Amino acid sequence: MSARQATTIEGGKARKPVTVASIRNAKGAEPLVCLTAYTTPVAQALDEACDLLLVGDSLGMVVYGLNSTIPVTLDMMIAHGAAVVRGAKHALVVVDLPFGSYQESPAQAFASAARILAETGCGAVKLEGGAVMAETINFLTERGVPVLSHIGLQPQSVNALGGYAARGKAAAEAEAIVADARAVAEAGAFAVVVEGVVAPLAARITSTIRVPTIGIGASAECDGQILVTDDMMGVTFGHVPKFVRRYADVGAAMRAAAEAYAEDVRARRFPAEEHLYGAKPKIAAG
Ligand code: KIV
Repeated sequence: MSARQATTIEGGKARKPVTVASIRNAKGAEPLVCLTAYTTPVAQALDEACDLLLVGDSLGMVVYGLNSTIPVTLDMMIAHGAAVVRGAKHALVVVDLPFGSYQESPAQAFASAARILAETGCGAVKLEGGAVMAETINFLTERGVPVLSHIGLQPQSVNALGGYAARGKAAAEAEAIVADARAVAEAGAFAVVVEGVVAPLAARITSTIRVPTIGIGASAECDGQILVTDDMMGVTFGHVPKFVRRYADVGAAMRAAAEAYAEDVRARRFPAEEHLYGAKPKIAAG
């Protein structure tokens, strides 16, 4: 039995792994719980609470300290995707197609997605782009690649869009985003991430399309929510977007632990007796 086939037992009930079909069927039901993960231990910690774990290209900024997601490579996504799959038994793992690995043509997108699916064992890929990506989404889904779409604020287009400001304030832009949502849903996306749009627009998109919307900086009207885990855990330092609620201060806990360790080492209180390997007692001769 593979890790993905294994079920977990909770309160006597077997919890089955979440599938693409169960995400698609969650439209209008209990909201989908989604977070990002980039490593095995974090995936293990989040797995039971989540329906979907996204190996987002946000790892470029969160893990590697890059300024944007643009320099993230397919090899980086595959390494982190495989690590997260090893830690997830319940949640559906989705891996981002990074910038430059799918925009050129549907065939390029298929080659990149096929590598991700084969080399990580994840259940689906995510790609950014609305109507302009409909042909690619159709090409992938017709060939057995489940696609999570990502519309509204698209971080990979930050150079073209000129920043991370919320989308859909102007009526024309709102109409274009609704058209994007329709196009990607009709092309076969099993769900749509809606990022950084004004709240009424997120509600309108959710009531317009037949597949679930997963909001980030959108609204509670979406069929699910996603956040960057490090943001909501308080691990990222510097600017935190308005739409993030901090559920923990793991960064402060790490700093405090490092300071306590430093004090112990400097005072020779660590390592203590219980941390030492003793020599084997000698057997007395004769
Ligand atoms: O890369 C990422 O983490 C994402 C989420 C913010 C949706 O795309």
